[in-house]
Amino acid sequence: MRLSLTVVGGLLLTGGLACPAKRPTSTTSVTTPSASPTEDVVSSTSISEEPSQTTSVDVTTAPTTEAQPTSTSSTAKVEEPSSTSASASSTSASSSAAPSPTTIVRTYPADVVDKLRDSSIDKLKDYLSKNPAGSCTLENASIRREWSDISPKEREEYIAAVKCLQSKSPRTASSKGPGVRSRFDDFVATHIEQTDYIHNTANFLSWHRYYVHAYEKALRDECGYAGFQPYWNWDRYAKDPANSPLFNGNASSLGGNSVNGGCVQSGPFKDMSVNLGPGTSLGYNPRCLKRAISKQWAAQTTADHTISLITQSRDIVSFQDTMQSYGGVHTGGHFTIGGDPGGDIHTSPGDPAFYLHHAMIDRVWWIWQMQDLSARLKAVGGTVVGSRGRSGSASDPINLGVNGDAITIGDMLTTMGGLNGELCYIYV
Ligand SMILES: *[C@@H]1O[C@H](CO)[C@@H](O)[C@H](O)[C@H]1NC(C)=O
Ligand SMILES: *[C@@H]1O[C@H](CO)[C@@H](O)[C@H](O)[C@H]1NC(C)=O
Repeated sequence: MRLSLTVVGGLLLTGGLACPAKRPTSTTSVTTPSASPTEDVVSSTSISEEPSQTTSVDVTTAPTTEAQPTSTSSTAKVEEPSSTSASASSTSASSSAAPSPTTIVRTYPADVVDKLRDSSIDKLKDYLSKNPAGSCTLENASIRREWSDISPKEREEYIAAVKCLQSKSPRTASSKGPGVRSRFDDFVATHIEQTDYIHNTANFLSWHRYYVHAYEKALRDECGYAGFQPYWNWDRYAKDPANSPLFNGNASSLGGNSVNGGCVQSGPFKDMSVNLGPGTSLGYNPRCLKRAISKQWAAQTTADHTISLITQSRDIVSFQDTMQSYGGVHTGGHFTIGGDPGGDIHTSPGDPAFYLHHAMIDRVWWIWQMQDLSARLKAVGGTVVGSRGRSGSASDPINLGVNGDAITIGDMLTTMGGLNGELCYIYV
């Protein structure tokens, strides 16, 4: 119970600081970390359908789509991304061409956010033609894909790399973090230490962009992972997250749900040791992974919530505040996972699903930026902790402790050539 209070206290503090747009009025949410937003904030939503088709999208251009219903698709509505602004360049594949290396398979119908993403790529292409990003181009940017859009084999390779990080010796000195037992824990410890400085602050988006990048880099450079960081499109599974490809507990999922509030008993992480936390503790506290997978919280992350976040937020402050508000998509995703450490604001990266959630957070920022690139690739807003809460700016430092070099917010504002060219990626 002490954990519950710590966790919920942290969350409510977060909500309180964030000027929530949609704070639930019920006090029941104070009593348990698995509490749900009240009914009045759970709007009825159109949730995407079960996997039903394969949609090819050329990621470098406006969609040139060919819906290929699978054998199970007889009842599914086939949605084709609206293919309007096809100022296709010579590099774009025609819709009838064989899949090229840049052709992406979407295994679910495109939701409204996917469609906005697809129709925004031409803006990015146009911007880059006038503002080249060094050697980073749309043709050679790496591509972060959705969990279901990589093959089960690729999911298992990702999982194997995460397990590898969990088996590698830490860099954190044991005198500083006695509970830090692996490279995976190095990342958890950095988040624990900096939690109060990286949420509801000017660096929230940029810090977490760097964090996911450094984690992806560790998976690749230290554990031989050949792919890129996958993301979790919340909307795809919002109706039934516990039975989704992410959490159904099979060998190519991130593990199952807890059973009767106990340990996760299925999937690759059922025997993992959560070493750090709860809360701010860096002491050694080995325990099993627990989840409290929640449909109610998942309902806060459907595409209609995300699209309104993207389209209604006119400036960076309203975007990041709405995103982090209580009941917003940020807490929505975290509390879809819930449990320990997933529901603990400090220790949440101790659940491997954290990184897929935060890749989606980063994707939503990236799509928001594409709506007005010349303004939004420079936009920094909000305050910094300390220094009497002054406004943050691009020159403010970001550090990841043992997990990366000290950089600035400005290094993280574009995925196309940020960090002196080290960042070069897009999302499907
Ligand atoms: C990406 O393509 C550009 C333009 O063709 C090239 O100059 C650059 O070296 C490429 N970068 C990588 C990392 O392949
Ligand atoms: C796990 O479930 C997902 C979703 O149904 C499926 O795509 C995948 O093939 C399954 N993996 C295994 C190893 O059964």
